[in-house]
Amino acid sequence: MTEAKFTRRVFSGIKPSGCLTMGNYLGAIKRFVEMQNADYESIYCVVDMHAITVWQDPADLRFATRELAAAFIASGIDPEKSILFNQSQVPAHAELGWIFNCVARVGWMNRMTQFKDKAGKNAEAVSLGLYAYPSLMAADILAYHATHVPVGEDQKQHVELTRDIANKFNHDYKVDFFPQPEPIIEGPAARVMNLRDGSRKMSKSGASDMERINMTDDATLIAKKFKKAKSDPAPLPETVEGLKDRPEAKNLVGIYAALADTTPEAVIAEFAGAQWGRFKPALADLAVAKLEPISLEMGRLMQDPAEIDRILARGAAQANAIAQPILDKTYDIVGFVRS
Ligand code: TRP
Repeated sequence: MTEAKFTRRVFSGIKPSGCLTMGNYLGAIKRFVEMQNADYESIYCVVDMHAITVWQDPADLRFATRELAAAFIASGIDPEKSILFNQSQVPAHAELGWIFNCVARVGWMNRMTQFKDKAGKNAEAVSLGLYAYPSLMAADILAYHATHVPVGEDQKQHVELTRDIANKFNHDYKVDFFPQPEPIIEGPAARVMNLRDGSRKMSKSGASDMERINMTDDATLIAKKFKKAKSDPAPLPETVEGLKDRPEAKNLVGIYAALADTTPEAVIAEFAGAQWGRFKPALADLAVAKLEPISLEMGRLMQDPAEIDRILARGAAQANAIAQPILDKTYDIVGFVRS
C-alpha cells in the first residue's frame, strides 16, 4: 500500500482519567501541537470510552474530560486547525471497534504487554473492555484512515496491532481499504520520570504529589517541587555520557532540554560542572515560564465548561463527517445491509 493513496493524517488520543502531569504535556501534547503546526491534518481525541475500561466515577469522568480538553487548548491545540473532540460523541469508534473485535484474534490480545501489566494476577476480574481495548484503539485510528500516530513507547505495540488488524481486514475481504498507520515515537521527552525516583515514570497515581508536576500546579508549587527534586551528590557531568547510571540527573537534564526545546547535549554544554544549587533554580525558572501560562489558561477555560462542551461538539461533528463515510464503506465491504 502506498502512502500517496491516503492523506497525511495524524490521530492520537489521551485518556481522561485523573490529573494530568508534565509527562502528558512533554511526552504527548507538546508533540501534538508541533504536528498541528507542521500542517498535518490532525485529529486529537479525549478517549473517554477507553477511560471506562477501569471504573470511573461519572462526575469525575465529566470533569476530567473537560479538563483534558482545556489542557489541549491551553497547550496550543487550536480547534480551528485541529479536530478536537471526545470519543463517545462519534459512534463510528464503537461500531468499527466491534468489527475489529471480529477481525483481531484472541491470541493477538494475549500478547499485549500493557494488558498483562495492568491485569496482573487479577486477569479474571478485570473488565472485558480492558482486554478488547487495543481493538477499540485500532478503530480510533482507522476510522479516519489516519497515517501517523504520535504515541509514547508503551503504545507502540498497540499501533503495530492496528497494522495487523488493517492487514487482516484488507486480506480477508480482498480490499485495499485500510492504511498501515505509522507510530511516531517521541524523542528525548518520551519518558518523563518521577522527581523522587528517576527509575520510575512520572505518573498521576504515585503516592506523593511531590514526585510529579501537575499541569494545574501554580508557579510556587512548580518551583518548590523542582527545588526539592531528588538529585545526587555529584555536580553535572561534562558530557551526556556522564549521565549514565545517574537516573535523577538524567531525568532533570532531559526535562530541561524538553522544556527549552533543545537537546540534553546542549543543556550539558551550558551547565557542565555546575552544582545542583545552580541548575535546579534555573530548571525551576524555566519550568515556571513554560508551564505557568498553560496552567493559568486551563484555569480560565475551566471557568466556562459550556464553552468547552461547544468546542467538543463542533469537533465531534467534524470527526463524524470523516468517520461516518469510512464506516459506511466498511459496512458495505463486510456485507451489512444498509437501507
Ligand atoms: N491507548 C492510549 C494510551 O493509553 C490512548 C489511545 C486510545 C490512543 N486510542 C488511541 C493513542 C489512538 C493513539 C491513537 O495512551
